Amino acid sequence: KFGHIQLAPPDPILGTAVAYNKDPHPNKVNLGVGAYRTNEGKPLIFQAVREAERALIEDPAVNHEYLGIDGHEGFVRLARELLLGADSPAIAEHRVASSQGISGTGSLRIGAEFLSVYLHPPCVLISEPTWGNHITIFEKVNVPVKKYPYWKLETRGIDLDGMLAALNEAPAGSVVLLHSCAHNPTGVDPTHEQWERIFEVILARDLLAFFDSAYQGFATGDLEADAWAIRSFISRGGQCLVSQSFAKNAGLYGERIGALHIVCTDSDTTERVLSQLKIVVRAMYSNPPLHGALIMAKILGDPALRENWQNELRGVAHRIIDMRRALYEGLIKLGIAGDWTHITSQIGMFSYTGLTPAQCEVMINKWHCYMLKNGRISMTGINTHNVEYVAAAIKDSLES
Ligand code: LMR
Repeated sequence: KFGHIQLAPPDPILGTAVAYNKDPHPNKVNLGVGAYRTNEGKPLIFQAVREAERALIEDPAVNHEYLGIDGHEGFVRLARELLLGADSPAIAEHRVASSQGISGTGSLRIGAEFLSVYLHPPCVLISEPTWGNHITIFEKVNVPVKKYPYWKLETRGIDLDGMLAALNEAPAGSVVLLHSCAHNPTGVDPTHEQWERIFEVILARDLLAFFDSAYQGFATGDLEADAWAIRSFISRGGQCLVSQSFAKNAGLYGERIGALHIVCTDSDTTERVLSQLKIVVRAMYSNPPLHGALIMAKILGDPALRENWQNELRGVAHRIIDMRRALYEGLIKLGIAGDWTHITSQIGMFSYTGLTPAQCEVMINKWHCYMLKNGRISMTGINTHNVEYVAAAIKDSLES
């Protein structure tokens, strides 16, 4: 029955962690998966998460019953407010259908499935490059995937003209997948003016925006600023989907906690949309996991814990910004050729180095610096102990 099945390649992102863990080299560096590490190279448990977990253990009202299909009511409400703003008119007008999701990927997947079943979009436009799983998720629900230009190598910035031209040519009803902040893998986001031009085309051409919000709080350290693009689009009357993840900004990677929000025009439509979304979810995994929802509901609903979380998150974002500066200075100190200012101007977890696949192989095989073959490095794997080593590895890879 199964003899014909071919061996699949390892996942290009998660596979780097497997290779890193197997490598016994003492100087190995993990620049692959986007998971935050402290300056000592350790995973971080936010203090607010620890406190929330302690409180949950003591809370006699907590049990392990099933959640509703659309998840934990308090979590969903607070997560939506965090994303869209507590004063969001769309929320006040009951125009947002929200369901808890299995972190960012699961929320993207139920959104993609919903679109495929109920809207039959002619295609989804995805940035070139993007996070690889975006493509697979839409392929799995049989929505044709097309690319829009995003990255301009010469300027190491956005190819806005190319992007707008692709959106202008897209058939009406196409879905446009956008990274709401901290674009993965490039670390390059549109400016507010550039977002406005993107939104003009989306609205004028009757396209449907699908924002992936995986890094709120990670781009600038400010949860409000990092939600600007989504809020701005909605304030222009835009309807959209948003997938929201708490993997990175609360360090809850393995808890798979997130949400999908669908912003509609009126409350009646919203009710119908949510009812159908629940049909999608019920057949996929019945209802979502509880633990992460309880943690985030506790943190978001408790002013002291919330403030503690936001302060620690700001510190995390700033450690990454500091490491950008340290890596840049390390490269300059070694007398590296070329312009490396993109290391400090890019934002979020990643830096898109511009290294070729062959140079990436040198980084991995000779220097044991595990990274993606497209040149993406996770800045979170860099710390004050290894930054000079990584700079030396980059310089040598360029010269090899
Ligand atoms: C990444 O891009 O490294 C993260 O989003 C982890 C993942 O699931 O790929």
